[in-house]
Amino acid sequence: MIIKLLPNQKELIEELEEKFSDVFSIHGIENDFKNNPYTNYYLYIIDNHVVGFINYYEIYDRMEIVNFNVLDYFQNHHIGTKLLEKLFNFAENNNIQNITLEVRIDNQKAIYLYEKYGFKKVSIRKNYYSFVDGILMEKEMKKMKDIYILGIESSCDETSFSIVKNGTEEISTVISSQIDIHRKYGGVVPEIASRAHIKNITFVLEECLNKAKMTINDIDLVAVTYGPGLIGSLLVGVECAKTISFLYHKPLIPVHHISGHIYANNLVKRLEFPLIALVISGGHTELILMEKDYSFKKLGGTLDDAVGECYDKVGRVIGVEYPGGPVIDKLASLGKCTYQLPLPLNDDSYNFSFSGLKSAVINLVHNEEQRGNKINKENLAASFQEVVINILTKKTMKALEEYNIKNFILAGGVSANKGIRSRFETLCKEHGINYTFPSLEYATDNAAMIASSGYYAYLDNRIGDLSLNPKSSTELK
Ligand code: KG4
Ligand code: ZN
Repeated sequence: MIIKLLPNQKELIEELEEKFSDVFSIHGIENDFKNNPYTNYYLYIIDNHVVGFINYYEIYDRMEIVNFNVLDYFQNHHIGTKLLEKLFNFAENNNIQNITLEVRIDNQKAIYLYEKYGFKKVSIRKNYYSFVDGILMEKEMKKMKDIYILGIESSCDETSFSIVKNGTEEISTVISSQIDIHRKYGGVVPEIASRAHIKNITFVLEECLNKAKMTINDIDLVAVTYGPGLIGSLLVGVECAKTISFLYHKPLIPVHHISGHIYANNLVKRLEFPLIALVISGGHTELILMEKDYSFKKLGGTLDDAVGECYDKVGRVIGVEYPGGPVIDKLASLGKCTYQLPLPLNDDSYNFSFSGLKSAVINLVHNEEQRGNKINKENLAASFQEVVINILTKKTMKALEEYNIKNFILAGGVSANKGIRSRFETLCKEHGINYTFPSLEYATDNAAMIASSGYYAYLDNRIGDLSLNPKSSTELK
């Protein structure tokens, strides 16, 4: 195990000074920490004991290896290699430009090792080690090339393109929503949706490139939602991505729509792992555990309707325009919880069920109408939303506790909900959980989240080819 030594780890410091007494004087490390703000030590620990270390200075964008040693008994165990790799890893992730070190000119073994790791001899230091010359060696860190990803989303009723740099930096996004077209039908009409995608797609792409002041040649990868969603709608985006990939020789990255919703948070703040994501959208309600990028473990999901679907159906029953979700959210903030509704699937599992809640609202409205009572929309919205919030927060907080996870993110269109956000915010603060919510503009469907997710799919070698076909239903893996 490799650990970073902290100035207050007195016992480890003493052990290090004792075991490597030819390198350190007594209190040498303590004084080094006190006097030198740039110093750092990585220790290699076996069975709670130090067997090797590397001491380096980190000065802005440069590093200098000052001392590097492994106990004789543990030589040939690749411990030195692992310490060096740890250091290079840190350097790569922290934009370090070069690493230098000095080595005795007669220490051929060490010089070979450093050369193997890309260090080059730069100059000779006469009599650097008493009567022996030293060699200054330097390793230039390769600057990671910036990667520009074009994201495409067309799984439902939004045609969207986006350009994102390195998975985190959004350059330009255009979302063309068809909500106004579908509103008069009270929901998305698949055939109309795919026709509208075909009509829009080239214009949206052009606008996105113009906004970024880029051409397709400046793009490195093309990421596209391949599913789940409406098959005709998905097909338009996938064919567009395949055409760009083929014509311009860009790798094609298939992206699962839900992974996109999750990575919408990555545009706010780099995801921290392990985390639990609560995905709440028009088509999904899932609790997902992620140990690292692109590792998805489903803890539970809805057995019937999704939360967003339930919001929209309740909206229809109380006579508000499609999509009902945002309207109910607004009404709920104006009402009080005066109607009794059941907490759905209130068990110990991480599954959800919303069809019973939807039926309960429908029955309640019919019963009240039959009695000649007028429904108070604000109060019904508040009562409905309260039940939704209670069940979502109950199961999520339980999962965070059971798996001992300290990072939480919300994902999907329903994560735009103010009531849900505010309750999670309070609970996370109470329980010391770090939380991130997607920005409101990227909570509902968009291509920026697909581009961000596509970057990490690429790093995970999930590269597609021209045989890619859209899938209307597909599990997140
Ligand atoms: O993620 P999304 O854009 O599409 C899917 O992947 O399904 O989610 C759309 C859903 C719709 O059901 C919509 O009513 C819901 O998200 N939604 C909301 C809010 N804003 C959007 N639901 C509750 N409160 C909101 N503020
Ligand atoms: Zn979505």
